[in-house]
Amino acid sequence: MSNLPTNRTNKAKQTNGNGKANITVEDKLDPKVSIDMEAPEFKDFAKSMVDYIAEYLENIRDRRVLPEVKPGYLKPLIPDEAPEKPESWQAIMEDIERVIMPGVTHWHSPKFHAYFPTANSYPAIVADMLSGAIACIGFTWIASPACTELEVAMMDWLGKMLDLPSDFLASSGGKGGGVIQGTASESTLVALLGAKAKKLQEVKAEHPEWDEHTIIGKLVGYCSDQAHSSVERAGLLGGIKLRSVKSENNRLRGDALEKAIEKDLADGLIPFYAVVTLGTTNSCAFDRLDECGAVGNKHNVWIHVDAAYAGSAFICPEYRHYMKGMERADSFNFNPHKWMLVNFDCSAMWLKDPSWVVNAFNVDPLYLKHDMQGSAPDYRHWQIPLGRRFRALKLWFVLRLYGVENLQAHIRRHCNFAKQFGDLCVADSRFELAAEVNMGLVCFRLKGNNERNEALLKRINGRGNIHMVPAKINDVYFLRMAVCSRFTQSEDMEYSWKEVSAAADEMEAAK
Ligand SMILES: Cc1ncc(COP(=O)(O)O)c(C=O)c1O
Repeated sequence: MSNLPTNRTNKAKQTNGNGKANITVEDKLDPKVSIDMEAPEFKDFAKSMVDYIAEYLENIRDRRVLPEVKPGYLKPLIPDEAPEKPESWQAIMEDIERVIMPGVTHWHSPKFHAYFPTANSYPAIVADMLSGAIACIGFTWIASPACTELEVAMMDWLGKMLDLPSDFLASSGGKGGGVIQGTASESTLVALLGAKAKKLQEVKAEHPEWDEHTIIGKLVGYCSDQAHSSVERAGLLGGIKLRSVKSENNRLRGDALEKAIEKDLADGLIPFYAVVTLGTTNSCAFDRLDECGAVGNKHNVWIHVDAAYAGSAFICPEYRHYMKGMERADSFNFNPHKWMLVNFDCSAMWLKDPSWVVNAFNVDPLYLKHDMQGSAPDYRHWQIPLGRRFRALKLWFVLRLYGVENLQAHIRRHCNFAKQFGDLCVADSRFELAAEVNMGLVCFRLKGNNERNEALLKRINGRGNIHMVPAKINDVYFLRMAVCSRFTQSEDMEYSWKEVSAAADEMEAAK
């Protein structure tokens, strides 16, 4: 470590029981040695890391996408205890390839097709560096005004990019506004808690004789049988019943929702919340928001729209038909951190009337109060944790450095790659599509039973050259090929198809 400036000391004062200083002790450190990394060294370390990052990402295609390590691989590679003496940053740099990379699944490789994408871009990485340097906790406006105000502005930029109804936007001058949550799961839960608070207040006004416990016991929420598991979890965490409604062609239709609500009303229950998914996890199907929204409005049921993955595509006008009925929703969420080149975490959520959420979670200790309360959002009331990072910087950097045009091009490229892969699949008579190709996702399978397809996926992942995960709908098992990397080229689709085809050949040869 570098030498300290001469005016620094390592003296520490000790106090007696009355709090008065009575002894001054020299600590054991050499007074010339700083306990901090100094700026020149930080610059060298950071530059070296930036070089490493660029090298890693530009050559990521050459790495084996799935690691070959076994559980427990890392423990023997590092000491059992933290070092007593400081080490050099060069030693850390050397350990990245030795300790970390062997156990990394390379999510940004064009050969990674599992789950849904998680975004990654240089502008977002640089923004995260600045966020790390400012390192504020923006729970109230005064805790760092730029953190709150940039978030309000970015959520409006983004809302306009999607052509969201204006009453979701802060700039409309109404109640609405946006907030950056960590994940779609948090957004679903926050919306559920807001809806619960709203319904509790309404029912209490109507039935002052009912206690809160009785009302909560009657509350029921809805989602389709294709909704993400985080919706079910939100129901558990929120302590309410959540009904899974049968989808039609993987989409939730208005009449099915209506029937479920009518039945619950007839049974004396209180419908209060429904999740409409735009872009389901299994097959990227789109619930009918126009129909479900109308049903929700009719029955005074809060409509939350979960567009975690597919929402990014709504920056392209040609995909906005899926948003039909958005004006009927109460809250809307998608993850720029999935498909819009903003690194995790950045989950964009808009509320038409945030006061239900703000009031539901409002605790106001003296140490968090400030003079400007009410003039700008105090985002601590819009979310579950108190602390929050300066995530709006990532959006600001990405939106400015790509421009809407290039972000649209990114989405369209991925959708075209999925079509290319789908065509390759259909051209091979051994295979069939398990669902319509939607956005950047292809659901496909070998014709025949589930066991064949389970064996196929095992073989594909076992070869280690590409990585996919399966899904099952109505007991039909299939493979999902998600286009995930911003480095993906048309040749990568050909490569991935060849891998699938080779694995199928191997299976035939092994018969
Ligand atoms: C439709 C849908 N909703 C919610 C989620 C959960 O997202 P998060 O990890 O941001 O909570 C996912 C994840 O893929 C998803 O596909």
